[in-house]
Amino acid sequence: MKIGIIGGTGREGAGLALRWGASGEEVIIGSRDAGRAVETAKRLNRLVSVAAIHGALNQQAAIEADVAVLTVPYAAHVAVLVEIKKALRGKLLIDTTVPFDPKTHEWLPSIHYNSALEEAQEVLGSGVRVVAAFQNIGFHLLKDFRRVIDCDVLVCGDDADARRLACLLAEKAGLRGVDVGSSRHAGTVERLTPLLMDLKRCYNTRAAGIRITGLPEHTP
Ligand SMILES: NC(=O)c1ccc[n+]([C@@H]2O[C@H](COP(=O)([O-])OP(=O)(O)OC[C@H]3O[C@@H](n4cnc5c(N)ncnc54)[C@H](OP(=O)(O)O)[C@@H]3O)[C@@H](O)[C@H]2O)c1
Repeated sequence: MKIGIIGGTGREGAGLALRWGASGEEVIIGSRDAGRAVETAKRLNRLVSVAAIHGALNQQAAIEADVAVLTVPYAAHVAVLVEIKKALRGKLLIDTTVPFDPKTHEWLPSIHYNSALEEAQEVLGSGVRVVAAFQNIGFHLLKDFRRVIDCDVLVCGDDADARRLACLLAEKAGLRGVDVGSSRHAGTVERLTPLLMDLKRCYNTRAAGIRITGLPEHTP
């Protein structure tokens, strides 16, 4: 499967690329700058000793991808979605966005939507299936790519097959994916991220995460 990571030169995107590259998936790092994408891909390939990670402009990464993953700051969320909308038609987009400024710790809610996921689905329309995932998994955990992360990836969105595929990709990244259902839960999941950031600060750890207990071993 070809995974195109839009904004993959950044912290979250590169962390996911490392893990998917190491697990044998073909990854395309997307960027506004093709040179930066290629350099990032080369650096990540060296780290995981593979040649499966390539670099391209965001638009090209979206065109080539079977599944696209969006990892740009919330400030660029809508603009980037509009740019890649056509290329994503008929595909799955996994949105990792939290509407939060990590520098100022300011929550940046859209006036019209309860979550970044619902905003993305509205911008992309029904021709693109959108799920939200990985919003609670910090890049510090991802970049240690050999390590199994003791956190769940909560996956939500309005298409059950798309959620299943995102859960599978979470597993390939060394995490457990938990299907939490429709897009109405996305606001809750996104809001857990600033809570986790405060916990990390309070307890002086980068490892704080979410784990759902009591689920059967093999979730549907
Ligand atoms: N960092 C985390 O631990 C973490 C955890 C969970 C979820 N997330 C979510 O993941 C997303 C990315 O976070 P991050 O920390 O990886 O961000 P980042 O490193 O600051 O940025 C990611 C990439 O986005 C691109 N970008 C930046 N500004 C842009 C703009 N105005 N227009 C288009 N592209 C732009 C840049 O790529 P180019 O310059 O190469 O185009 C950059 O490398 C956010 O929505 C965040 O909420 C992050």
